[in-house]
Order: sequence, then C-alpha cells, then structure tokens
Amino acid sequence: MSLATQEFEFLRDLVIAGPGIVLEPDRQHVVEARLAQLALNEGFGSVSQLIEGVRKNPPTQLQRKLLDVITNNETWFFRDTQQFEALKNFVLPEFMAARRSGRKLVIWSAACSTGQEPYSIAMLVREHFPELLSWDFQIIATDYSSRVLQKAQLGKYSRFEVNRGMPATLLTKYFLRDGLDWQLRPEIRAMISFRQINLTQPSANIPRSDIVLLRNVLIYFDRGTRHELLDRIRFSLVEDALLVLGAAENISDLQIRLKPVQINNTCWYRPC
Ligand SMILES: C[S@@+](CC[C@H](N)C(=O)[O-])C[C@H]1O[C@@H](n2cnc3c(N)ncnc32)[C@H](O)[C@@H]1O
Repeated sequence: MSLATQEFEFLRDLVIAGPGIVLEPDRQHVVEARLAQLALNEGFGSVSQLIEGVRKNPPTQLQRKLLDVITNNETWFFRDTQQFEALKNFVLPEFMAARRSGRKLVIWSAACSTGQEPYSIAMLVREHFPELLSWDFQIIATDYSSRVLQKAQLGKYSRFEVNRGMPATLLTKYFLRDGLDWQLRPEIRAMISFRQINLTQPSANIPRSDIVLLRNVLIYFDRGTRHELLDRIRFSLVEDALLVLGAAENISDLQIRLKPVQINNTCWYRPC
C-alpha cells in the first residue's frame, strides 16, 4: 500500500529536520519497505499507524527509530580500493613523515555506518604502519544512526558482509569466528573511538582531524546543506589535512576553500 501524500510530506519534513537527508519521491518504495518492517517490529498494524504514532507523540524513541531506518547504511570493507591504496602508498607515509616529531595523528571516518570503513583503516594501519600504534594515534568514527553505531562497536559481521571486500588473509588474521559470524579481534576494535554526530547540526562537535573520510553521505543532502556542512568541516581541518569523498562524489558546484589534489588517480581535498 502506498503512502498518502500527506504521510510522505510529514516524513520528508521530519527527515530534513533530523539527519538533513532529502527524501526523493522515487525512493518512496524503499522507505516504505523499511517502515513496514519497523511497523511490524513495533507492533503497529500498518505503516500509516506507525506514522500516526510518531505524529501524535512528542519526539520519542519511536521517532528516533523511524529516522534511523530511513538512513541508507550501505557500506563494505575496503570500499573504493583505490582510495585505500592511496591512503597506504601516499597519504599515510606523507603524514607520518610530517608528524614524526609530534607523533600525533587523527583520522576521522565521518559517516562510518556499520564500521567497515574505520575497521578497514585500522587493519591497514596494523598491516603497514604498526609504528603508529605507539603514537598518539586516533581513529574517530561517527554516524547519525545509533543503530549502525551499536553494530559497528560490536564489530561482528555476517559471512555475506565479510565476503564484501575483505581479503581472506586479513579475515583469518584479524577476525574471530563466532558461529556463522565473524567478529573483529579486540585489539582492532580498541583502535576506534565511535561517537554519534549529526553532521548537519551546526552545533556538531566536529573532531579536529588530519585525514577525513566523508564518503557516500553528501549525496543525501541538498546543495545548501552540503555547503554548510563542508564549510564547518573545512574549519575543523588542520592546515595540511586531507579530505576524501566517495569515489563518485565531487564538490565542484560548491564554493568551499578546499582544493582538489590528485593522489594515485583518486581525488582528495586540502584546505586553501
Ligand atoms: C551510505 S553510508 C556510507 C558509509 C561509508 N562512509 C562508506 O562510504 O561505505 C551513509 C551513512 O551516512 C550516515 N548519515 C546520514 N545522514 C547523516 C548525518 N546527518 N550525520 C551523520 N551521518 C549521517 C548514515 O547513517 C549512513 O550510515
């Protein structure tokens, strides 16, 4: 059953005020499918009843859950391999050389979803830059959705999830088998500090970082929101920081003081 126009408009406004995502009408069927599952889990007879439940009550846990299921959390290990190659072969060696005297480095995975992105960085560091483990080295991973952050913190993935992008050698080295699932070893999980941050909130406590991954999230925002949030991130970057977006994303339509830098056929941005 299709959502009534009023229901869709209510959801659209709620989502803009929450994570700031623009709900395109052509995504209505995806949204409906997710809401149908939530309605079932929460004991509502239909999606309409669920929406009515949210509409009638002040912001509640239920509203939070609804916003949560609307976010798209698609991710996988070592997504966009070339960017990880660039990180390994150019970006991290450059930063380690530049920070050798202070021995401090912060990497921020700004929309980390269920954790595959920051854990890929953690494994890459263990494999190729173990020296960083004796530095003041932080991987901060943030997301809007508490649901995905809970899963990320657990670091436990199904066979399907580990089959997406995870090299077999790293799987056996850094994961422990748990029934049909695989859980990252405690020493890898301990490398990440997870936090909830809504990137579109002007008051968001954006970490001051050297390397920022802001991948596959800008596409969900309108131009004005993209501009505002990139401006804020730009101010949180250290002078020689590097920022990378999703491989298919670019910000050439925005006037932000970030200049593109080509590294190993991938595009990164530096404050200017
Ligand atoms: C498609 S995933 C991308 C995950 C990962 N960066 C990658 O490229 O594989 C987009 C993530 O952005 C998060 N997100 C959406 N709106 C957000 C917001 N306003 N603030 C923070 N995270 C947000 C979603 O919860 C989701 O986990």
